[in-house]
Amino acid sequence: MSTIKSPLPEEALEVAALALHDTLVDLVDLALVGKQAHWNVTGPRFRTIHFQLDEVVATARTHADTIAERTATIGVPADARVATVAKETRISQVDAGWLRDDDVVAMFVRIYGEAIERLRRRAADTERADPVTNNILVDIIQDLEKQYWMWQAETG
Ligand SMILES: [Fe+2]
Repeated sequence: MSTIKSPLPEEALEVAALALHDTLVDLVDLALVGKQAHWNVTGPRFRTIHFQLDEVVATARTHADTIAERTATIGVPADARVATVAKETRISQVDAGWLRDDDVVAMFVRIYGEAIERLRRRAADTERADPVTNNILVDIIQDLEKQYWMWQAETG
């Protein structure tokens, strides 16, 4: 039995907990691939992309914390252990070694497009089950879509 009393009824709790968990995995891995690319990017656009990737990491980490704390708030322990993230992540993985600047941009356009699609689905799923979780997800979508625009603008 949980120490934390959930404010949600069972069915709504299940929907919100799943949306939150899957989002936590996405965000934790987004921060990891962001740092991996931040360290290994090479090419004429190194400096721009190197710093842009730190914005990716900062945003992902901040939102991951909000998501994990909402998870605990609704009475479910958060799980962002490395083994869990490695097993469940749906973020496209970056290759080991140096990464060309243009490839990094293309990679992050793809990663953002796919992650936003999943987030929008979760936002729709939680709209009635838990408007508070839905609201948090919508805030995250707003930030990620802004960064998605910036990644796409890099390809023009
Ligand atoms: Fe750094």
